[in-house]
Amino acid sequence: MEKENISLLRYRGSKLNKVKELDIFPKLEETFKQKSSVGGTLSIISFLLIFWLIYSETVYFWDSKFVFKFTPDTDFNAKLKINVDMTVAMPCSNVGADILDSTNQNAFKFGSLEEEDTWFELASNQRRQFESERHFNSYLREEYHSVKDILWRNRYIHISQELPPRSEIPNRPHDACRIHGSLILNKVSGNFHITAGKSLSLPRGHIHISAFMSDKDYNFTHRINRFSFGDPSPGIVHPLEGDETIASQNMVLYQYFIEVVPTTVKTFLTTVDTYQYSVKELSRPIDHNKGSHGMPGIFFKYDVSALKVHVIQERENIGMFLAKLCSIIGGIYVCSSM
Ligand SMILES: *[C@@H]1O[C@H](CO)[C@@H](O)[C@H](O)[C@H]1NC(C)=O
Repeated sequence: MEKENISLLRYRGSKLNKVKELDIFPKLEETFKQKSSVGGTLSIISFLLIFWLIYSETVYFWDSKFVFKFTPDTDFNAKLKINVDMTVAMPCSNVGADILDSTNQNAFKFGSLEEEDTWFELASNQRRQFESERHFNSYLREEYHSVKDILWRNRYIHISQELPPRSEIPNRPHDACRIHGSLILNKVSGNFHITAGKSLSLPRGHIHISAFMSDKDYNFTHRINRFSFGDPSPGIVHPLEGDETIASQNMVLYQYFIEVVPTTVKTFLTTVDTYQYSVKELSRPIDHNKGSHGMPGIFFKYDVSALKVHVIQERENIGMFLAKLCSIIGGIYVCSSM
């Protein structure tokens, strides 16, 4: 037993010596080292430099960035939720809103939007809120590229609030119709429209009955408070919200061509599946005598993009970060000692 122990110790000692022989770093005796004021200054400078670089590297590490990826959208079973709140300058008895999609199913399949008689002119308190929302939204639309990261990071959710109740009730009959609510649609292209007359569903499509209206009853002036797809989510701007269009003629056709893009925003804390959209607007007066045919009304033609956007918050690998820190400290140390 004793013998064994001794031999083990001896063995270990000789191995350590061998490792010492492998040391390639030059060793200087203490007496040869001389401290100088230049060296001291250099040391202070390199300490400051190391400190500053570590600081900026840490800030850079903490400051995550957003990465975009595009993939084909393979989620076939998903539904498309549409949220609408808009006011048209005609009494509800004169207008009808519905949706037709490319599966030829009528809007009544998806439920219906609420219609509520109101006045087109907003009360002063409502006007104030609408104007502020409108400014805010147009600001976001213009500055989107510079602020989108901040919006996503802060999990900022802007849900356009409902307008407050009127502060004063006008003393005249209702002249407008507020159409609002959410519908769950098939995720295919479709057409949401508001036209004159109530719609009647027939086996082969549907018609709008407006026989009792004269031309001067038509007024497709409209205001959009809410127009979005999917659930509210951070950093998504809905370009149509805050839109107000005054019709100068009775028979006008407004067309909005909407491309809906499925979007997933994945931050460190949450993942949200939602939709963004872009829109092109077109309007023309309907005058059959001048060859401008069609049906007056407000048409939202939407189409769902085949590509899905993934917005992913990413941070540098922690190992990479540590390696960078070591190389900063080591690099400056070596340079300054030279
Ligand atoms: C439609 O109604 C709006 C708001 O009440 C009004 O400003 C506009 O002049 C009307 N347009 C027509 C063609 O009557």
